[in-house]
Amino acid sequence: MQIKFTTEPTGDAIAYLAYEGKKGPELGEATPADGKAALTRAAGAAKFKGGAGQTVELLSPSFADADRVLLAGAGKNDSADQLSWNKVGAALVKRLATSGAKSLSVVGAPDNHAAAAIAFGARLAAYRFDGYRPNLKDDKKPTLATVTVVVADAAKAKSAYAALAARAEGVETARDLVSEPPNVLHPESYADRIAKLESLGLEIEILKAADMKKLGMHSLLGVGLGSQHESRLCVMKWSGAKDKKAKPLALVGKGVTFDTGGISIKPGPGMEDMKGDMGGSAAVVGTMVALAKRKAKANVVGIVGLVENMPDAKAQRPGDIVKSAAGRTIEIQNTDAEGRLVLVDALWYAQEKHDPAAIIDLATLTGAILIALGQENAGLFSNNDKLSEQLAASGKTAGETVWRLPLAPGYDKLLDSQFADVKNIGGRNAGSITAAQFLQRWIDDGRPWAHLDIAGTAWKTGNDDAMEPSWATGWGVRLLDQFVADNYED
Ligand code: BES
Ligand code: MN
Ligand code: ZN
Repeated sequence: MQIKFTTEPTGDAIAYLAYEGKKGPELGEATPADGKAALTRAAGAAKFKGGAGQTVELLSPSFADADRVLLAGAGKNDSADQLSWNKVGAALVKRLATSGAKSLSVVGAPDNHAAAAIAFGARLAAYRFDGYRPNLKDDKKPTLATVTVVVADAAKAKSAYAALAARAEGVETARDLVSEPPNVLHPESYADRIAKLESLGLEIEILKAADMKKLGMHSLLGVGLGSQHESRLCVMKWSGAKDKKAKPLALVGKGVTFDTGGISIKPGPGMEDMKGDMGGSAAVVGTMVALAKRKAKANVVGIVGLVENMPDAKAQRPGDIVKSAAGRTIEIQNTDAEGRLVLVDALWYAQEKHDPAAIIDLATLTGAILIALGQENAGLFSNNDKLSEQLAASGKTAGETVWRLPLAPGYDKLLDSQFADVKNIGGRNAGSITAAQFLQRWIDDGRPWAHLDIAGTAWKTGNDDAMEPSWATGWGVRLLDQFVADNYED
């Protein structure tokens, strides 16, 4: 999808902004006078009220040269924000993507930021993962190739869009990674892809199994023992702050490229979704791409633990005891509670080697978070109120929301083991919380830390959000990029 900014509309589809008024839709000032009657009539016939994301379409209208003229609702005129402008672009692209229309102009953006946000929505809505569908029928192929946002100062709008284009690239990267089939994306091939990000100016370090063994990372390594593919730990460093030595923000991601459950094997139906069990790592990689592409003025280090959880003669068993790099021993009671095992060694590495100002980890960690929050919010767990509030606020701004759940010593106790320092499951109750408590045992006292359980948001089947057109959402990139912009840039 090509995105352009111009001062005059062109293309075979033209959309005019409309707002939600007290007495029905209010057509934007840019609507052509000779089209108002037909558009108003069409709006009435289609129950179009001007709500954000609503659209109505006229085909071959006599008053215009374009094949299609549309109205695009932006919500109430005085309360339209970044997210409503996103919806305008996304809804139009969703409507026209395979319609036959090749180019669309959107007319009426009130300022550069609205124009840029419309473009961002359009771009995310145009995302497809079609690389493995060489025989896609013509009628399912996208036709819409260009979206032009019409705005008074096209050059300024374009530069306002540059940072959002970087964010979009990050989201697309994350979606691609989550959707890749697990025979293609495994720890080794994933690490190879991450190594290539050096070209963006990221400093990349890749630890192989032998390197991790030397560091004593047997918690992470234990998960990968049943796999034909060697585990990896990848570090991506972006030093964009004025003071290159300033303590970084650390982003840590769970990268289980496929989760069978291991010896505690999962039931068959739906197991294919577990190719997405590296969604946390994808959000971290995507965010690092966004930060590098927009040259963020912040120091951020991204760390992802990449493993494949397979049942095998060499796989770890329930009952095994492993020692993590921090020296803490773990009794494995369920090999399907593997994400936390990967994360704690990655969290240790982040603290030990990078002494971060704060750590945020992301993981498709528990099915229980879907029971608690569904797919509307990611679960947020934190030892720090300020960090929690910052994440919640940036999430609201960027359209990826979180809901905080508690941590407390009573939950932590559920993880005490009779054979080791800790066991890796805490029983049926409060499964997402005990998972978070497990992680917290590896967090240094006083280190601001937040854990985002994204098992409900990393992928969505039958999602009707136009901004999220594919199974993989890329969840986390928008939130984290916004969070860095809001709190870490000097
Ligand atoms: N990757 C899963 C969690 C998951 C479930 C993600 C559904 C997305 C959708 C994780 O590794 C897992 O298996 N967790 C177990 C933990 C349990 C054994 C304590 C779970 O949630 O059942
Ligand atoms: Mn699992
Ligand atoms: Zn998992």
